[in-house]
Order: sequence, then structure tokens, then C-alpha cells
Amino acid sequence: MRVTDLSPHQRIDASELFLQADRLEPCVLVIFGAAGDLTRRKLIPALYNMVREEALDERFAVIGYSRSPQSDDQYRDLLLDGLGNYSRAQPIDEKLWQGFSQRISYVEGNFEDPEGYAALRNGLEAVERLIGSDGNRLFYLATPPSAAPIILHRLSEAGLLQAGGADSPWTRIILEKPYGRDLESASDLNRIVAEVLQEDQVYRIDHYLGKETVQNILVARLGNTIFEPLWNRKYIDHVQITAAESIGVEGRGRFYDRTGVVRDMVQSHLLQVLSLCAMEPPVSFAADDIRDKRVEVLRSLRQFTAEEVFKNVVFGQYRGYRDEENVDRESRTPTYAAIMCFIDNWRWQGVPFFLRVGKHLSQRLTEISVVFRPVPLCLFGRDDVCQDLEPNVLTIRIQPDAGMALKISSKRPGGEMEVASVEMDFSYSETYAHPIRDAYERLLLDAVKGDATLFARRDEVEFAWRFVTPILSSWEGAIKRQPVFYAEGSEGPVEAENLMHGQGRQWREIC
Ligand code: BG6
Repeated sequence: MRVTDLSPHQRIDASELFLQADRLEPCVLVIFGAAGDLTRRKLIPALYNMVREEALDERFAVIGYSRSPQSDDQYRDLLLDGLGNYSRAQPIDEKLWQGFSQRISYVEGNFEDPEGYAALRNGLEAVERLIGSDGNRLFYLATPPSAAPIILHRLSEAGLLQAGGADSPWTRIILEKPYGRDLESASDLNRIVAEVLQEDQVYRIDHYLGKETVQNILVARLGNTIFEPLWNRKYIDHVQITAAESIGVEGRGRFYDRTGVVRDMVQSHLLQVLSLCAMEPPVSFAADDIRDKRVEVLRSLRQFTAEEVFKNVVFGQYRGYRDEENVDRESRTPTYAAIMCFIDNWRWQGVPFFLRVGKHLSQRLTEISVVFRPVPLCLFGRDDVCQDLEPNVLTIRIQPDAGMALKISSKRPGGEMEVASVEMDFSYSETYAHPIRDAYERLLLDAVKGDATLFARRDEVEFAWRFVTPILSSWEGAIKRQPVFYAEGSEGPVEAENLMHGQGRQWREIC
């Protein structure tokens, strides 16, 4: 292993996004699953962009740990390949990459073998000597959930998980989702984590929380006086949360077929977005104050009985799914779900929250729409005018066209009393010159700073699994049921429309 050329990288215009105060403390990031999809698509591009924006201390290095034999240079080439495809900034600045890549090295080892961890320990110490870091270590488990227990045990046996203190270097660990497969396995994992780590060393990542626009949910609610007084069952008819993807499983058939949409997206991303929409205002923006409030929402989610699951959930699968590589030809794994759920608390009693998520839909679109109740009485006389009166809708667009829109009724110009719906629209890209940072950039930064606000706490993942596990058990137990099939490029199965129509409501278009 060689770490050379730590000279300052080429300077670019300082971005407002990373101020000097945001610079990371020196540390070494060790990635398990170093050659995997997540590392190439997300982690290395995030780090490269942080280097571009001068957010990384020069005493920051990366070690990839994985079983395939390869040299540092071969590993760097593999990463560069991913960078060309997935970095938000293109083209790749070769000089910058050359400087940064010299701080990336590779250690070969498998997850079980103690020798691999001994090599990792030596590698870490060598890198730390070279870059002169203080010994801060961040381990990132970009691995399937089943690999986490053995990695944690081996790291602990190798003496690599010391908590550190105020004056000594810290060790933290980032755990990727899905965090377990169900409530039981997530609780087991939490128990193992607690045996070897203190809770404040643990960062359970859900990249949706790192999205700028997801953080905007709380700012929209709590930074304006006009929404919060209406944010309850008296004024809100229902809430729709959509996470539509136009892509399919993209070569991840083996993982996806064991996982399915409920574990992949609902348990984590959608429930996190739901908690931010529905939570009570926290007493402060400190990590645990916010996490306490998110947890309260998850605790209040009404759990379904076995019969209720099939009344409230539509499980769909896109037509070509079974032909995907590494997918069972008779797979029942859902790639789409529509769920009607309720939050049993004072604020939300009786207000349905509709979640809709799927792959291979007509568009990539993630948004929250808060649909307000109709006006109590239409005063505009004519029936046709009153029928045209649509409810107010506040839409928080998470991606791709980040922003917010408020639908209101207004008078159409002219002598007649005619009413039309119009939209007041705010778009991030039109308002702000800087591109939106990728969620992983923000979250890596926070983990190094020791800010756990945007990471899930132990109880949070367990309450999310508590809601989702009966859904999974009912579906997985009903082996005779088939998912409803939907055409690729469509808006999803008609059964999901029916779920809404049955409630006298309708989905917003995915466009
Ligand atoms: C990941 C899922 O967590 O989120 C993927 O495993 C999904 O299946 C992805 O495609 C969606 O993330 P984003 O940021 O593109 O909405």
C-alpha cells in the first residue's frame, strides 16, 4: 500500500455550500463492500465532489476493503470508471483525481477471516502515519445486512472499535440500509451493535434524510407561519407521498429479488419522509430532539392485521421483472406498493396517508402532496363553478425538479364568475445558482462532524420495522397470491387507482 502526493489539490472557486467551518476533521474512512455498486455510484463520487469543493481535510484518506485481489492502482481505476459515470460534476478533473486517488488504498480480505482484519489494522496505521491523522476512524458498511454482524464482531476482536473520548480519537460506524430484514433481525442487529459500540458511535444511514429537499419539509413547515396552523386533521384531507422511479432493478436483480420494494424503499425512505411530514415541532434542532419526534410518528402508525394488509396495500410487479438477470422466473417480489396508512395521534386522527412507490414507472418523481379540505360552502352561485373549485394542494417536490408549489383557486378574468386553479411555484434550480449537493456528501460530512440528526436511531429503525413487518409477513405468507402486474412506463397498476377511488380520492399524476 502506498499513500503518496498529499500536496494541496488544485483550487476551485469556493462554494457557498461548504464553508471553511464545514471542513472535515482528519480521518480515515474504511469502506467494506469497497468494489460494490454503492461505493462506485455514490460514495466515491460524493468524496470526489467534496474534494472539488475543498470540504475534505488533506489528512483524509480512504481504504477499500474487499475480497478480490487487486493493487491500489487497479482499485483506483475501478473507482475512476464509476466516477466518470456517476459524479454530479463532469468531466472529471484528472489532476484533482490524481491528487485525491493517491489518498485511496486497498486492503484485500474477506469478512470472516481475522487475518484480513489484522491486515486492515496495519493498513490503517500505515495510512495514519503517512497522512499524519489523529487516528479518527470511520467504518462504512456498504454491505448486505447479513454481513454486518460478522464484520462488527471481527472489528471488535481486532480492537478497532474503541469509542474514544473528548481528547482521544473517535471511531464511528455507518450502517447501510436495509437495516435487517424484519423487526426481529433488526432488533438482533441492534443488540449486536450495542454489544460492540456505544449508540453515539452508530450512524444508520438513510440517504433520503440527506437530501436537501427532504430537509426542506421541516423548513417549509416550521419556517413559515402560514402552514403550521393548518397542518392537522381540521384542514388536511389527506397526504400523498410518491416515490416513482423510471428505472428498473439495474443489474441488482439478486439483491432486489430478496428485498422487494417494501424493504428497499418503504421501511426506510418513505417512512422517513412520512415522519418529517407528520411529526410535532421539536423543542430544538438537536439530533435527539428531532429524532424523538420522528420516532413518535412511527410509534403512532396504525399496525395492520393480516386481513387489513390486503385491503390497504397493493403489491405490484412490472411486467418484465421476471426476465431480469438473477431474478426468479416465478418471483412474487413486489416492485411497486401503494399503501393507505393512518397515524393514530391527536393531530392526524382519521387523515389517510397514501404512500406510492415503484420501479419502471412513467417518470422519476418523488414528491409529497398535502391535499387540504374543500371550502365549507361554495358561494359562487352556479353549480358548474362550484364543481370547478378544487382543493388547495401544497406539493413539496423532492426530485428531480426540486421545489414547492401551492395550488390555489383564483378568478378567471372576464365578466362571468369563473374560477380556475393556479399554481404558485418555487423551483430550486431557478432560485439558487449552486447545484444541489448529493445526499451522500451531506451525510458523510455529518458523520465525520459527529452530527447524527440525519441518521436513524436504534428505536427509530425498530418502530419502522414494526409497521412494515406485518405487511411483509402477510404478503410472504400468502404464497398463492400474485402481485398485480403493470406495464413498464405506466403509472402503476389500476388496483392502486381503485384503492384511492374507494376513498373518494385520486392520485396525482406522475408527470
Ligand atoms: C435506494 C434503493 O436506497 O434508493 C434503490 O436501494 C433506489 O432501489 C434508490 O433506486 C432511490 O434513490 P434516489 O435517491 O435515486 O431516489
